[in-house]
Amino acid sequence: MANRVPSGPEGVPFLGSSLQYADDPLGFMERVAREYGDVARIDVYGQEVYQVTDPEAIRRVLVTNAVNYRKPSLGGDEGLGGLLGDGLLTSDGEQWQRQRRAMQPSFYGDKLNEYAKIIVRDTEEVADSWRDGEHVDIHREMSELTLRIVVESLLGARLDGMERVTREALLDVGERFRPGPQGFVPEEVPTPRNLRYRRSVEKLERILRDIRRQRERRGSEDDLLGTLLRLRDDDALDDEQVRNEMMTMLLAGHDTTALTLTYSWYFLSKHPEKERRFHDELDSALDSSTTVADLAELDYLEAVVMESMRLYPPAYVVYRQAEESDTLAGFHVPAETVVATPQWVVHHDDRFFDDPWEFRPERWTNEFRRELPDFAYFPFGGGSRKCIGDGFAMREAKLVLAMLGRRFEFDLVSDAPLELVPLVTVHPKNPVEMTVRTR
Ligand code: HEM
Repeated sequence: MANRVPSGPEGVPFLGSSLQYADDPLGFMERVAREYGDVARIDVYGQEVYQVTDPEAIRRVLVTNAVNYRKPSLGGDEGLGGLLGDGLLTSDGEQWQRQRRAMQPSFYGDKLNEYAKIIVRDTEEVADSWRDGEHVDIHREMSELTLRIVVESLLGARLDGMERVTREALLDVGERFRPGPQGFVPEEVPTPRNLRYRRSVEKLERILRDIRRQRERRGSEDDLLGTLLRLRDDDALDDEQVRNEMMTMLLAGHDTTALTLTYSWYFLSKHPEKERRFHDELDSALDSSTTVADLAELDYLEAVVMESMRLYPPAYVVYRQAEESDTLAGFHVPAETVVATPQWVVHHDDRFFDDPWEFRPERWTNEFRRELPDFAYFPFGGGSRKCIGDGFAMREAKLVLAMLGRRFEFDLVSDAPLELVPLVTVHPKNPVEMTVRTR
């Protein structure tokens, strides 16, 4: 039984399964798991990858044998590492450990309560700007809001009207990571997409440099940027590394939470009876003496967020690379193998979730949570490289949903199903237009 060799789609010479993958990455990953099982071998863009969808084996990769699995630098300088350098998301080894230790305090304990105040204020401002009956692209609105929140919370700066430009630059940057052969045209080749990418990176760098310089003039403050600048002044970081960490926070710290919010509004709007339950819970909490910050403690609200991240996990796959050979779910994994653990597939597995494609927040009872195997649900990854912003993101998603849900409901303008494209994260392909209705 042990040390079997995994099977997988044959593919074609040179290209392997690249074309099928590029055509529909999410569907491809699902098909591979269905046809070849929990450990399957695929060949995309000249890279052999083992896709692992057994929760116990995922736990081995991310937790129990994590020392054997480093972060791969997929695409080298053309990949995410080229943009984020040695920032927290893409660094590894001792350097990562030092960075994580230094940055951790900015994400836990009292800091989260300070961020809650910023979240409440910024959300209130957005709510005040909406009129009954107005059409909005809810994903754009949620992205600009989460961008504003992360910049204010971690970098201590207001974007002051620059939200739209910043978001558009970030979208152009994300486009470069759209799966497909065109994504691998080296950056210096002046294709329209590469030119847009380069211009957008420069724009973002300018914005971040301005934020840093303003801070240097103002003097030290006790937030993440303050920590980074103190480390730089002690020669533990240089300006380039400060830029990398700021860029990482901009990218990792807004898009994922915005997607969670967008998909939550989408599913609520598609399921009026669940939307009613969501509103009822908010209304009765407000009848009692709940403060705004306590809204984030509501059970159904939390279940809505968890269920959205299950059905449409913003981070849809986590990659690692084996240092030495290993055995996963009885299969031999040679040294240097790239391993993909796709949330997208595991979160839709009917071994763990009844009617896996149904939006059913009610499933998240305490008993269900207790019985769910570890790593059958892992929207924030796991082990020591688990998302540093998990607590921040949950608090933010719940507060924003609660505050906006108190005042508004959102009706989808079109009945067409949402089309998704996996870039660095799973995005809606088109604007998600909704009508804002005052409750
Ligand atoms: C719903 C929202 C979010 C989701 C689904 C999410 C998902 C993830 C996942 C799956 C990882 C692990 C990647 C891996 O192991 O390769 C990760 C790491 C990370 N996330 Fe998040 N994230 C979210 C929100 C945030 C926020 C709000 C921030 C910052 C403010 C953030 C910053 C980071 C950073 C810096 C890392 C790298 C951590 C490390 O390697 O030490 N994320 N995130």
